[in-house]
Amino acid sequence: MASFHHRWSLTFFFVFATLAPIDQANAGGYSTPSVAFKATPWKLAHATFYGDETARETMGGACGYGNLFNSGYGTDTAALSSVLYSNGYSCGQCYQIKCTQSKDCYSTIVTVTATNLCPPNWSQNTDHGGWCNPPRTHFDMAKPAFMKIAQWKAGIVPVSYRRVPCVIKGGIKFSFQGNGYWLLVYVMNVGGGGDVASMWVKGTKTNWLSMSHNWGASYQAFATLSGQALSFKLTSYTSHETIIATNVAPSNWHVGMTYQANVNFH
Ligand SMILES: *[C@@H]1O[C@H](CO)[C@@H](O)[C@H](O)[C@H]1NC(C)=O
Repeated sequence: MASFHHRWSLTFFFVFATLAPIDQANAGGYSTPSVAFKATPWKLAHATFYGDETARETMGGACGYGNLFNSGYGTDTAALSSVLYSNGYSCGQCYQIKCTQSKDCYSTIVTVTATNLCPPNWSQNTDHGGWCNPPRTHFDMAKPAFMKIAQWKAGIVPVSYRRVPCVIKGGIKFSFQGNGYWLLVYVMNVGGGGDVASMWVKGTKTNWLSMSHNWGASYQAFATLSGQALSFKLTSYTSHETIIATNVAPSNWHVGMTYQANVNFH
Protein backbone atom coordinates (compact mmCIF):
# COMPACT_ATOMS: atom_id res chain seq x y z
CA MET A 1 0.00 0.00 0.00
CA ALA A 2 2.79 2.31 0.87
CA SER A 3 5.04 2.86 -2.12
CA PHE A 4 2.47 2.55 -4.83
CA HIS A 5 3.36 5.60 -6.81
CA HIS A 6 6.47 7.36 -7.89
CA ARG A 7 7.42 10.70 -6.56
CA TRP A 8 9.27 13.53 -8.12
CA SER A 9 12.87 12.74 -7.56
CA LEU A 10 15.39 15.37 -8.47
CA THR A 11 18.69 14.21 -7.19
CA PHE A 12 20.09 17.13 -9.15
CA PHE A 13 18.60 19.70 -6.79
CA PHE A 14 19.31 17.49 -3.82
CA VAL A 15 23.01 17.77 -4.62
CA PHE A 16 22.94 21.54 -4.97
CA ALA A 17 20.99 22.03 -1.78
CA THR A 18 23.39 19.76 0.03
CA LEU A 19 26.32 21.92 -0.91
CA ALA A 20 24.70 25.26 -0.28
CA PRO A 21 26.10 27.12 2.70
CA ILE A 22 24.12 29.93 4.23
CA ASP A 23 25.07 33.57 4.19
CA GLN A 24 23.24 35.79 6.60
CA ALA A 25 25.17 39.02 6.07
CA ASN A 26 23.62 42.48 6.35
CA ALA A 27 20.09 41.55 5.33
CA GLY A 28 17.48 44.13 6.32
CA GLY A 29 13.89 44.76 5.40
CA TYR A 30 10.39 45.43 6.55
CA SER A 31 6.91 44.05 6.13
CA THR A 32 3.45 45.52 5.82
CA PRO A 33 1.42 45.62 9.07
CA SER A 34 1.34 41.98 9.81
CA VAL A 35 -1.88 39.99 9.47
CA ALA A 36 -0.94 36.81 11.30
CA PHE A 37 -2.18 33.65 9.61
CA LYS A 38 -4.71 31.77 11.74
CA ALA A 39 -5.50 28.07 11.85
CA THR A 40 -8.39 26.95 9.62
CA PRO A 41 -11.29 24.69 10.75
CA TRP A 42 -10.72 20.92 10.83
CA LYS A 43 -11.76 18.99 7.70
CA LEU A 44 -11.75 15.34 6.71
CA ALA A 45 -9.34 13.60 4.34
CA HIS A 46 -7.23 10.46 4.21
CA ALA A 47 -3.56 9.79 4.67
CA THR A 48 -1.09 7.20 3.44
CA PHE A 49 2.69 7.17 3.58
CA TYR A 50 5.54 6.78 1.15
CA GLY A 51 9.13 5.73 1.47
CA ASP A 52 10.60 4.09 4.52
CA GLU A 53 11.58 5.14 8.01
CA THR A 54 14.66 7.00 6.79
CA ALA A 55 12.41 9.34 4.72
CA ARG A 56 15.02 9.13 1.94
CA GLU A 57 12.30 8.99 -0.70
CA THR A 58 10.89 12.32 0.46
CA MET A 59 14.06 14.17 -0.53
CA GLY A 60 14.08 16.03 -3.83
CA GLY A 61 10.30 16.53 -3.87
CA ALA A 62 8.25 18.62 -6.27
CA CYS A 63 8.51 21.77 -4.15
CA GLY A 64 12.24 21.93 -4.86
CA TYR A 65 13.43 21.94 -1.25
CA GLY A 66 16.11 19.36 -2.05
CA ASN A 67 17.51 17.58 0.97
CA LEU A 68 14.87 18.13 3.66
CA PHE A 69 17.34 17.72 6.50
CA ASN A 70 19.53 20.51 5.12
CA SER A 71 16.59 22.76 4.28
CA GLY A 72 15.23 22.30 7.80
CA TYR A 73 11.95 20.50 7.07
CA GLY A 74 13.08 17.15 8.45
CA THR A 75 10.78 14.15 8.31
CA ASP A 76 7.48 15.75 9.34
CA THR A 77 6.46 16.33 5.74
CA ALA A 78 3.75 15.31 3.30
CA ALA A 79 3.09 15.10 -0.41
CA LEU A 80 -0.25 16.76 -1.25
CA SER A 81 -2.78 15.49 -3.78
CA SER A 82 -3.07 17.88 -6.72
CA VAL A 83 -6.29 19.40 -5.35
CA LEU A 84 -4.34 20.60 -2.30
CA TYR A 85 -1.04 21.21 -4.09
CA SER A 86 -2.36 24.08 -6.27
CA ASN A 87 0.43 23.81 -8.85
CA GLY A 88 3.05 24.36 -6.19
CA TYR A 89 1.52 27.41 -4.55
CA SER A 90 0.78 25.27 -1.49
CA CYS A 91 4.43 24.34 -1.06
CA GLY A 92 5.59 25.25 2.42
CA GLN A 93 2.12 25.26 4.00
CA CYS A 94 1.82 23.63 7.40
CA TYR A 95 -0.92 21.16 8.31
CA GLN A 96 -1.91 19.47 11.53
CA ILE A 97 -3.09 15.94 10.89
CA LYS A 98 -4.76 13.51 13.29
CA CYS A 99 -6.01 10.03 12.58
CA THR A 100 -9.75 9.48 13.19
CA GLN A 101 -12.28 6.67 13.11
CA SER A 102 -9.89 3.77 12.79
CA LYS A 103 -8.69 1.16 15.25
CA ASP A 104 -5.20 1.85 13.92
CA CYS A 105 -5.22 5.49 15.09
CA TYR A 106 -2.94 6.90 17.75
CA SER A 107 -4.03 10.07 19.54
CA THR A 108 -0.99 12.16 18.52
CA ILE A 109 -1.50 15.18 16.28
CA VAL A 110 1.41 15.73 13.91
CA THR A 111 2.31 18.99 12.16
CA VAL A 112 3.73 18.52 8.67
CA THR A 113 5.04 20.83 5.97
CA ALA A 114 3.95 20.35 2.35
CA THR A 115 7.13 19.53 0.45
CA ASN A 116 5.93 17.39 -2.44
CA LEU A 117 3.17 16.54 -4.89
CA CYS A 118 1.36 13.22 -4.75
CA PRO A 119 0.52 12.90 -8.45
CA PRO A 120 -2.68 11.28 -9.73
CA ASN A 121 -2.44 7.73 -11.01
CA TRP A 122 -5.14 7.49 -13.67
CA SER A 123 -4.83 3.70 -13.89
CA GLN A 124 -6.18 3.39 -10.35
CA ASN A 125 -9.68 4.26 -9.11
CA THR A 126 -10.12 7.07 -6.63
CA ASP A 127 -11.49 4.57 -4.11
CA HIS A 128 -8.92 1.86 -4.81
CA GLY A 129 -5.32 3.04 -4.85
CA GLY A 130 -5.82 6.32 -6.73
CA TRP A 131 -5.89 8.15 -3.43
CA CYS A 132 -4.28 11.28 -4.84
CA ASN A 133 -6.53 11.54 -7.88
CA PRO A 134 -8.82 14.59 -8.07
CA PRO A 135 -11.11 15.43 -6.39
CA ARG A 136 -9.58 13.74 -3.35
CA THR A 137 -7.86 15.76 -0.66
CA HIS A 138 -5.10 13.43 0.39
CA PHE A 139 -1.86 13.48 2.35
CA ASP A 140 0.87 11.03 1.40
CA MET A 141 3.06 11.46 4.46
CA ALA A 142 6.70 10.69 5.08
CA LYS A 143 6.65 7.37 6.91
CA PRO A 144 8.12 8.73 10.19
CA ALA A 145 5.31 11.32 10.32
CA PHE A 146 2.61 8.75 9.52
CA MET A 147 3.95 6.46 12.25
CA LYS A 148 3.20 9.17 14.80
CA ILE A 149 -0.53 9.20 14.00
CA ALA A 150 -1.29 5.56 13.17
CA GLN A 151 -0.11 2.00 13.05
CA TRP A 152 1.74 2.01 9.73
CA LYS A 153 0.38 -1.38 8.72
CA ALA A 154 -3.01 0.29 8.28
CA GLY A 155 -1.67 1.71 5.01
CA ILE A 156 -4.45 4.28 4.66
CA VAL A 157 -6.39 5.97 7.47
CA PRO A 158 -9.10 8.64 7.66
CA VAL A 159 -7.76 11.88 9.11
CA SER A 160 -8.83 15.30 10.29
CA TYR A 161 -6.59 18.09 9.13
CA ARG A 162 -6.29 21.85 9.34
CA ARG A 163 -3.89 24.51 8.13
CA VAL A 164 -1.85 26.05 10.92
CA PRO A 165 0.70 28.87 10.90
CA CYS A 166 4.21 27.65 10.14
CA VAL A 167 6.31 28.33 13.21
CA ILE A 168 9.71 29.08 11.72
CA LYS A 169 13.00 30.18 13.23
CA GLY A 170 14.72 33.12 11.56
CA GLY A 171 14.09 34.72 8.20
CA ILE A 172 13.05 33.44 4.79
CA LYS A 173 15.79 31.55 2.91
CA PHE A 174 16.54 31.98 -0.78
CA SER A 175 18.43 29.21 -2.50
CA PHE A 176 19.97 30.37 -5.80
CA GLN A 177 20.21 28.48 -9.10
CA GLY A 178 20.52 29.67 -12.69
CA ASN A 179 23.28 31.96 -13.92
CA GLY A 180 24.16 35.64 -14.28
CA TYR A 181 21.29 36.17 -16.76
CA TRP A 182 18.69 33.85 -15.30
CA LEU A 183 18.08 33.76 -11.59
CA LEU A 184 16.09 30.81 -10.25
CA VAL A 185 15.32 31.11 -6.55
CA TYR A 186 13.93 28.43 -4.25
CA VAL A 187 12.08 30.05 -1.36
CA MET A 188 12.27 28.18 1.92
CA ASN A 189 11.76 28.60 5.65
CA VAL A 190 8.61 30.68 5.15
CA GLY A 191 6.60 31.41 8.31
CA GLY A 192 2.87 32.15 8.78
CA GLY A 193 0.90 30.81 5.82
CA GLY A 194 4.19 29.25 4.64
CA ASP A 195 3.44 29.90 0.98
CA VAL A 196 4.35 32.46 -1.69
CA ALA A 197 2.04 33.86 -4.38
CA SER A 198 4.37 36.25 -6.16
CA MET A 199 7.84 37.59 -5.92
CA TRP A 200 10.05 40.40 -7.19
CA VAL A 201 13.79 40.93 -7.21
CA LYS A 202 15.69 44.21 -7.18
CA GLY A 203 19.37 44.57 -7.96
CA THR A 204 21.28 47.67 -6.89
CA LYS A 205 21.11 48.82 -10.56
CA THR A 206 17.55 47.73 -11.36
CA ASN A 207 13.99 48.54 -10.41
CA TRP A 208 11.76 45.86 -8.91
CA LEU A 209 11.55 43.06 -11.48
CA SER A 210 8.63 40.68 -11.38
CA MET A 211 9.65 37.03 -11.09
CA SER A 212 7.61 34.24 -12.68
CA HIS A 213 6.64 31.00 -10.98
CA ASN A 214 8.83 28.20 -12.26
CA TRP A 215 7.87 25.01 -10.37
CA GLY A 216 7.20 24.08 -6.75
CA ALA A 217 8.46 26.89 -4.54
CA SER A 218 10.75 28.43 -7.14
CA TYR A 219 10.61 31.77 -8.91
CA GLN A 220 12.72 33.10 -11.76
CA ALA A 221 13.86 36.37 -13.32
CA PHE A 222 15.43 36.63 -16.76
CA ALA A 223 17.68 39.59 -16.09
CA THR A 224 21.35 40.45 -15.70
CA LEU A 225 21.77 40.56 -11.96
CA SER A 226 25.31 39.36 -11.42
CA GLY A 227 27.55 41.73 -9.46
CA GLN A 228 24.59 43.42 -7.75
CA ALA A 229 23.32 43.05 -4.20
CA LEU A 230 19.78 41.63 -4.36
CA SER A 231 16.60 42.42 -2.46
CA PHE A 232 13.35 40.47 -2.66
CA LYS A 233 9.70 41.39 -2.28
CA LEU A 234 7.23 38.57 -1.65
CA THR A 235 3.47 38.32 -1.33
CA SER A 236 1.96 35.49 0.70
CA TYR A 237 -0.40 33.18 -1.23
CA THR A 238 -2.74 32.83 1.73
CA SER A 239 -2.66 36.13 3.62
CA HIS A 240 -1.70 38.41 0.67
CA GLU A 241 0.69 40.15 3.02
CA THR A 242 3.73 41.68 1.33
CA ILE A 243 7.19 41.61 2.81
CA ILE A 244 10.45 43.16 1.64
CA ALA A 245 13.81 41.60 2.38
CA THR A 246 16.51 44.17 1.65
CA ASN A 247 20.03 43.22 0.55
CA VAL A 248 19.53 39.55 1.15
CA ALA A 249 22.36 38.57 -1.19
CA PRO A 250 25.64 40.52 -1.40
CA SER A 251 26.97 41.71 -4.78
CA ASN A 252 29.26 38.69 -5.01
CA TRP A 253 26.34 36.25 -4.72
CA HIS A 254 26.58 33.06 -6.62
CA VAL A 255 24.55 30.11 -7.74
CA GLY A 256 24.53 27.21 -5.29
CA MET A 257 24.38 29.52 -2.27
CA THR A 258 21.46 29.97 0.11
CA TYR A 259 20.93 33.46 1.52
CA GLN A 260 18.73 34.24 4.51
CA ALA A 261 16.72 37.39 5.15
CA ASN A 262 15.98 38.63 8.63
CA VAL A 263 12.26 39.06 7.93
CA ASN A 264 9.49 36.49 7.68
CA PHE A 265 5.71 36.08 7.57
CA HIS A 266 3.90 35.24 10.80
C1 LIG B 1 -0.20 3.40 -11.18
O1 LIG B 1 -0.91 2.27 -10.79
C2 LIG B 1 -0.54 1.07 -11.48
C3 LIG B 1 -1.55 -0.02 -11.10
O2 LIG B 1 -1.53 -0.27 -9.71
C4 LIG B 1 0.90 0.74 -11.14
O3 LIG B 1 1.30 -0.43 -11.78
C5 LIG B 1 1.77 1.90 -11.56
O4 LIG B 1 3.12 1.67 -11.14
C6 LIG B 1 1.29 3.21 -10.96
N1 LIG B 1 2.00 4.30 -11.58
C7 LIG B 1 2.77 5.12 -10.89
C8 LIG B 1 3.39 6.23 -11.68
O5 LIG B 1 2.95 5.03 -9.70
